[in-house]
Amino acid sequence: MSGSGSDSDDDAPALSAATLGALLEFFKEQEERNDKLRQIEEGEIPDNFDEDWNLSQFWYSEETASALARECVRAVGPDGTVACISSPTLYRCLKDMDHNLTLKVFEYDTRFAVYKEDFVLYDFKSPLSVPKDMRENFDIIIADPPYLAEDCLTKTALTIKYIMKSDAKIILCTGSIMEELADRLLSVKRCQFEIKHANRLSNPFLCYANYDLDEYCKS
Ligand SMILES: C[S@@+](CC[C@H](N)C(=O)[O-])C[C@H]1O[C@@H](n2cnc3c(N)ncnc32)[C@H](O)[C@@H]1O
Repeated sequence: MSGSGSDSDDDAPALSAATLGALLEFFKEQEERNDKLRQIEEGEIPDNFDEDWNLSQFWYSEETASALARECVRAVGPDGTVACISSPTLYRCLKDMDHNLTLKVFEYDTRFAVYKEDFVLYDFKSPLSVPKDMRENFDIIIADPPYLAEDCLTKTALTIKYIMKSDAKIILCTGSIMEELADRLLSVKRCQFEIKHANRLSNPFLCYANYDLDEYCKS
């Protein structure tokens, strides 16, 4: 017979210090994430949004986001319209700059709904399910599709063609393996301007445009 309660306590499996440390770290991160979600639900805009790798989120470095944002402001003139498709970091950078542009962020991640009327819920799998009044509406479109896959780029390109004005500028950020398809779908060419990410990406990543972006945008 097992005697006292203290005997059974002794039998309980003990966690190693390393496992316990990892577990505590996990709970701390989860609590921080929940706090941020609560902030967003209450309409507060957080200082940063953690990358969610399940959504293929790889944020630009500050340097890249701000170079692209300055290029958008330069390219469209004072009252232009800018669509950031699957590129919320660029949108956030533009939002913090001084201008009169109309900005929209097309995103699948609903955390960005905190940007209220600027937010357009977007899933590349339904490329034309965007508000009708956005048809042929944008002077510049910047897109950074989530996957290096033909289907994803083809559908994102459909959205771009639907919302762009006939003479709109297009900037596409995606892997080097998408070069030929990108040209075929959108007539965009590879640029020298280097896209950098906050965290290292293993895939070779490029910037493409349908105009001479390198004349204005230096790495
Ligand atoms: C490669 S990241 C590009 C982010 C960009 N580098 C930035 O810093 O803003 C891909 C983006 O696609 C979004 N995304 C994920 N699934 C999507 C979907 N089904 N439809 C549209 N966008 C999606 C992610 O939330 C993420 O913002």
